[in-house]
Amino acid sequence: MRIDKFISELGVASRKEAAKAARGGGVLVDGVAVRDLSQHIDPDRSRVTYLGRELSYKKYVYVMLNKPMGYVSATEDSRLPVVTELLPEELQHRELFPVGRLDKDTVGLMILTNNGQLAHTVLSPKRHVEKEYYFESREPLPPGVEEKFESGIVLGDGYECKSAEISLDEGRASGVITLTEGKYHQIKRMIASFDNAVTYLKRISFATIPLDESLSEGEWRYLTDEEESVLLSFAE
Ligand code: URA
Repeated sequence: MRIDKFISELGVASRKEAAKAARGGGVLVDGVAVRDLSQHIDPDRSRVTYLGRELSYKKYVYVMLNKPMGYVSATEDSRLPVVTELLPEELQHRELFPVGRLDKDTVGLMILTNNGQLAHTVLSPKRHVEKEYYFESREPLPPGVEEKFESGIVLGDGYECKSAEISLDEGRASGVITLTEGKYHQIKRMIASFDNAVTYLKRISFATIPLDESLSEGEWRYLTDEEESVLLSFAE
């Protein structure tokens, strides 16, 4: 990674400020002053000092992505585009992967990290981490669905879902579903149990972290420090 990019990504200084500091001998790489910040370093290994301050590259990275339709939530696929392709080049070598899965046609909040332990823990069924989805269905849902979601919907294969919440909009053909587990095609199968079908599905929050609606589909940003602490608190 370029040295000026490394410095600006850590939020320490803009590239322009960094260039100025470097001209004055204020940027050291492994103890040696560097004037040309277009040189590349290994962010995990090089020791960079900026105006006397040692910069440490964060070992773990946490990113929020607004997943578009058509992308597989994986790091590679032989046929289809994968969500990690939507991340910029500087994150490509950091080996991020999605925390949990969304179907190819589901959009919305996807958290990616390179912290395998965290991902494993927050996805554990014992943690009951909440995920909220906005959905639309082909037809209105009948009276009594709310109680059925609460008592545990039985899927086509006999699996009894954990208690979940559904809050319907007027018209009863859209609303928000909150799950604390993540079975394969779970919402689609829950809605199918009413002889109905999901026509649109968007995850709007994960572990109480809402999707940043200023991100268009396909856009990403780093989690804020606050969001990062919320996520990490689920792994304690
Ligand atoms: N439930 C589904 O059916 N699909 C998803 O992508 C997520 C939850």
